[in-house]
Amino acid sequence: MKKTIIVTGGAGFIGSNFIFHMLKKYTDYRIICLDCLTYAGNLSTLMPVMDNTNFRFVKESITDRDAVYKLFEEENPDIIVNFAAESHVDRSIHNPEVFLDTNIKGTAVLMDACRKYGIQRCHQVSTDEVYGDLPLDRPDLFFTEDTPIHTSSPYSSSKASADLLVLAYHRTYNLPVTISRCSNNYGPYHFPEKLIPLMIANALNDRPLPVYGEGLNVRDWLYVEDHCKAIDLIIHQGRIGEVYNIGGHNEMRNIDIVKIICKELGKPESLITYVTDRKGHDMRYAIDPTKIHNELGWLPETKFADGIKKTIQWYLDNKEWWETIISGEYQNYYKKMYGNR
Ligand code: NAD
Ligand code: DAU
Repeated sequence: MKKTIIVTGGAGFIGSNFIFHMLKKYTDYRIICLDCLTYAGNLSTLMPVMDNTNFRFVKESITDRDAVYKLFEEENPDIIVNFAAESHVDRSIHNPEVFLDTNIKGTAVLMDACRKYGIQRCHQVSTDEVYGDLPLDRPDLFFTEDTPIHTSSPYSSSKASADLLVLAYHRTYNLPVTISRCSNNYGPYHFPEKLIPLMIANALNDRPLPVYGEGLNVRDWLYVEDHCKAIDLIIHQGRIGEVYNIGGHNEMRNIDIVKIICKELGKPESLITYVTDRKGHDMRYAIDPTKIHNELGWLPETKFADGIKKTIQWYLDNKEWWETIISGEYQNYYKKMYGNR
């Protein structure tokens, strides 16, 4: 059945991949991207779908109540999927405030709009970081949906706050919500402030590869398309009021990822430079995806060995996309973050 879906934050990494997935799979759905184009939002990413008559782009902030209400009045959406967020942990350590505004207050505005105008499903895209971290010497431990919230950074605290609000709106106002908590994504259109695209861009430019601490921290990497497919399943078949963890049992140490990138690009490991660690740096993330597998039949399809090759090839084929980004304001960001590290 035809549906109208508002996708917030759709000019960013995962949101854009989700829009491409949805427009391709559901040719009768109307998809509206609501994005205020922060430094992380890139309209050029959405160019391939701009002329699609089932797609509309709206440049507004999720924190702007009037703008959000106006959009709900115009479009009468069936579903909203909230990707819009400040998403980078390092930036949250330097400047937490915007994380509270966007990630918490923005989410509340969206849910108020859902209450006021009615909605079939309000989906909140959350993160495994709300669970805090796991010790390296307990490989038997994984995050389940029942793991207590125990955040480390302003970013993860803001995402956890949003999750709690979403669940409160369900209990108090009976809002039909779902939440997904995914592990680290990688793939096309990943902003080059994050580990994998930063290392690819730096390696291609023969610049130092800044590994935090000893590079022993572990992340559970998932190809972005697999995350998009999981959200597609949750918004159509997931149980209202439920949280679903998403992850593919693909734990890797940072240093091993950086070495793989060097190898794939034929660059020397001597580019690797160990720099001062991130404050409050989480050691290990690892998702137990049993619930989404048992209830919705979701399993990751892309193996890391294939996904990283595809990703590196995408950055080689789309140099203009990331070179434009790293030649602008990003230069100041990079100096501030890595200059004296
Ligand atoms: P991103 O930083 O690449 O993109 C964020 C997008 O949100 C950008 O287009 C930006 O312009 C937009 N945005 C920011 N503030 C906004 C506002 N006030 N109003 C409207 N739009 C706004 O982020 P991402 O990596 O694609 O992450 C998307 C979501 O997924 C986030 O909620 C994040 O917490 C979550 N998540 C990310 C990962 C990951 O590995 N990247 C993993 C799990 C969960
Ligand atoms: O787990 C899901 C989360 O994954 C999402 O909620 C966040 O939005 C997303 O940014 C990501 O957070 P991380 O902090 O894990 O990702 P990041 O790419 O910033 O860092 C990955 C690891 O690499 C982390 O241990 C820090 C390290 N790192 C990162 C950068 C940018 C480095 O060693 N050097 C770097 O230059």
